Amino acid sequence: MEMTLEKILQSQGFGTRRQCRDLVLSGDVEINGEVCETPSERIPVEGLTFVVDGKAWQYREHLYLMMHKPEGYECSHEPQHHASVFALVPWQFLNRNLQCVGRLDQDTTGLLLLSDDGQFIHRYTSPKKHVSKVYQMTLADDLTEDQVSTLETGVQLHHERNVSKALSCRKLASNSLEMAIDEGKYHQVKRMMGAVGNKVVSLHRHAIGGLILPEDLEPGQWRYLTEAELRKLAG
Ligand code: URA
Repeated sequence: MEMTLEKILQSQGFGTRRQCRDLVLSGDVEINGEVCETPSERIPVEGLTFVVDGKAWQYREHLYLMMHKPEGYECSHEPQHHASVFALVPWQFLNRNLQCVGRLDQDTTGLLLLSDDGQFIHRYTSPKKHVSKVYQMTLADDLTEDQVSTLETGVQLHHERNVSKALSCRKLASNSLEMAIDEGKYHQVKRMMGAVGNKVVSLHRHAIGGLILPEDLEPGQWRYLTEAELRKLAG
């Protein structure tokens, strides 16, 4: 597929058509190592790498990112009390309407997916799709066998129609638990632990649908999902 250079830049979040045209005319855009000053030049987008102000970008029809969400960040474009996770990604992505694929609480850390692909977001947030999410937590009190079996049988949370069940539970230490769930109700993990008489002190999302947070992705860092990771997510 071919697009004009100004449209390519606009699609990648560099501003309005007018702003992108001016960017090209200012001589700050390079294609294949050469400055291109013609906004209307038609360019094939498959595999395209372009340089703006000395920084290289790859053309992407959609954005699929993973982030190691740090503590003290809100998964919102309009945060109330903390910084926004969207402050951690390039501003161009915000022009593309990047969204979180399901939210984590401000004090929860771990694997967060972000995308501008509405179908993808729906697929991984819809309760009907049953995508598993693995959480690791530290608890205020030691975990009892009774609490684990109640989580596995299911607990009734206030204002919820159906019981909430753990897909699996793995005790990591006397007061630490790894639990997988396949829904995304509001504060679900914290409420489930409250319902069995314990309390979450710290919460970390370790994995989503078979995709594990890479150890080398530091809190606050993000990267693009690879094709293989997208296939793994698709199951
Ligand atoms: N469950 C919670 O209680 N909080 C989160 O951030 C995610 C799941």
